[in-house]
Parts: sequence; C-alpha cells; structure tokens
Amino acid sequence: MKRSLVLLCFSALVVSVAASDFWRDFYITFGGQNVHYSGSPESGYENIQLQLDNSTGSGFQSKNPYLYGYQSMKIKLVGGNSAGTVTSFYMRSKYTNWCELDFEFLGNVSGQPYILQTNVFSEGVGNREQRIYFWFDPTADYHEYGILWNHNLILFLVDGKVIRVFHDTRDLGVPYLDYQPLYLVSSLWDGSPWCTQGGRIPIDWTQAPFTAEYTDFQIDACAIYNAPYGTQDELTACSNQVYSSWYGNEPNLALTQTQIDDLRWIKSNYIIYDYCTDLERFNYTTPPECARNWP
Ligand SMILES: *[C@@H]1O[C@H](CO)[C@@H](O)[C@H](O)[C@H]1NC(C)=O
Ligand SMILES: *[C@@H]1O[C@H](CO)[C@@H](O)[C@H](O)[C@H]1NC(C)=O
Ligand SMILES: *[C@@H]1O[C@H](CO)[C@@H](O)[C@H](O)[C@H]1NC(C)=O
Repeated sequence: MKRSLVLLCFSALVVSVAASDFWRDFYITFGGQNVHYSGSPESGYENIQLQLDNSTGSGFQSKNPYLYGYQSMKIKLVGGNSAGTVTSFYMRSKYTNWCELDFEFLGNVSGQPYILQTNVFSEGVGNREQRIYFWFDPTADYHEYGILWNHNLILFLVDGKVIRVFHDTRDLGVPYLDYQPLYLVSSLWDGSPWCTQGGRIPIDWTQAPFTAEYTDFQIDACAIYNAPYGTQDELTACSNQVYSSWYGNEPNLALTQTQIDDLRWIKSNYIIYDYCTDLERFNYTTPPECARNWP
C-alpha cells in the first residue's frame, strides 16, 4: 500500500505537464491582422496561425514571465517555398543584460532543408549559435518544441528528444540563467537578409501569406505576476519551487543515458554549425562552457 502510493507520487512528479489556454496565457504582440485561430472558447482556440505577408509578420507572447519550468508548443512550420522566413520560439527577459533561449527555424526553397538554430544568452551575451538539420520534414506535421529549465541545466527538446543542453557552468566563470524571469515568445518574420543560404535567397512574396501553425501549448512553470522582474518574494518562491517540481528533480538534474545517446546522434548526423568549434570566431579561445556542451 505504502509502496504503491510512493510510486504513484513519483510518476505524478515525472509526467504532470500543464495544458495552457492560449488566450489566458498569451497575447498578440504585433501583426494582429495576420493572426488567425480556430477552435472554440471551450477548447481554448487550440490552433493559432501566424502569417507573414509583405505588410507585416506576426507574433505572440506570454502575459507573465516565468522563472524555471517546462514550456512547449507544437508547431507546423511554413511549407513550400519558405526561403527568407524565420519562425521563432524563444524565452527572453526584460533586463538590459538580458537572458534568452532561442529556437529559430530558418526556411528554405521547396525541397531544401530547414535549419533549426538555437542560441543561449546569459547576462546579455549570446554568440552561442548551434545549427542543425531536422530528421523529419517539419512542415508536414506538428512537432513539439520545448525548453526545460531548472537550477542545474537547460534542455532544448524536439519531440522530447534533447538536441542541446546548457549546463550551469558558473564554476567555469559563465553566468547561468538563475534570477531573470523569462517571457515565452513566438513570431514569424522576414529574415531574408541573412536567413536562407546566408541571405542569397530572398523571400518570394508571390507565395505570401506564409503560415506557421501552433497547437498544444504547455506551460508548467513558476509564473511571476509582478512583471517584468518579479518581487524578491516571488523570485525566492520560484527558486524554492524548482526543488519540489518534476522539472527540477530526477531525472531532470543531469543528462540521462538516453539523452547522452541522443546528443551524440545529433552531433554525428545533424549538426551543421557549432560555435564551440568555430575557433577563428573566438580567436582560438574556446568558450569555457563548451567543455560541457557535448557529452
Ligand atoms: C503586397 O501584396 C499585395 C497582395 O499580393 C499586393 O497587392 C501589393 O502590391 C504588395 N505591396 C507591395 C509593396 O509589394
Ligand atoms: C537550404 O538549402 C541549402 C541547399 O541544400 C542548404 O545549404 C542550406 O543549409 C539550407 N537551409 C538554409 C536555411 O539555408
Ligand atoms: C587574439 O589573440 C591574440 C593573441 O593572444 C591577441 O594579440 C589579439 O589581440 C586577440 N584578438 C582579439 C580580437 O581578441
């Protein structure tokens, strides 16, 4: 009896992920005329479409920022000739020396591969780009993109598979994201000057409007209501909550063997750019956290 109760609690700790109601948790930040949705008030308008045309892109953001947690959404990226389009899903603080965790999906001409670029900013310093190709067609169906953030590490996840980790490397002199609450943001915009094949392929406006579709928003995180920075009490509460949350407990405190294998698989098959190996860019001084970026 006791044992089954413990097991039950443990599995509840591991699997609970909170569904989010789009209009309760988010608002439209720009390009309102290019945001469309389907569903009903009861189902929370489950499908959100962001569009980009020659007048504007569009985007949305969470009403509250969060300190630690798991956040994800399912996205079906712009199909066909998506060259020049950038669909983004990221988290970002409002400090001057901001923190940011980025997924950027760089479109391509029909039949050529999208790039998924990720980046991490801590205390206003980024320059940590990694770029990978997908192992599936991200325009054919919805796939889940998520960020798990706790006091030990940050995982970038695609369909639950880790594609990138950022460890707490304060011991190596690298600031960690540990006090700035982050908003959850997404947008679709024109990135033609740099996005596709180094900016060589412009956007083809005859294909407009470009559409990215979203569904299944999940937010299981510690919300800060005194936005954008939070009160000291709120921040302390979130820093404490991480220890009793599923996202701040085993198995999420270090990479599991499966995650190590997944990262090695990404590294050998899908990575096309890694700042850690771009020696010239950093004057032949590898950024310190790179020592732990790949298992
Ligand atoms: C933008 O697209 C619309 C619809 O295709 C077109 O009528 C208009 O001329 C375009 N505007 C510009 C500035 O290209
Ligand atoms: C687009 O396709 C080209 C040719 O296959 C490839 O080199 C490039 O990495 C692809 N992705 C982007 C975003 O340019
Ligand atoms: C690169 O390193 C060399 C040798 O340590 C140094 O002289 C130079 O100033 C550095 N350049 C930059 C841009 O940091």
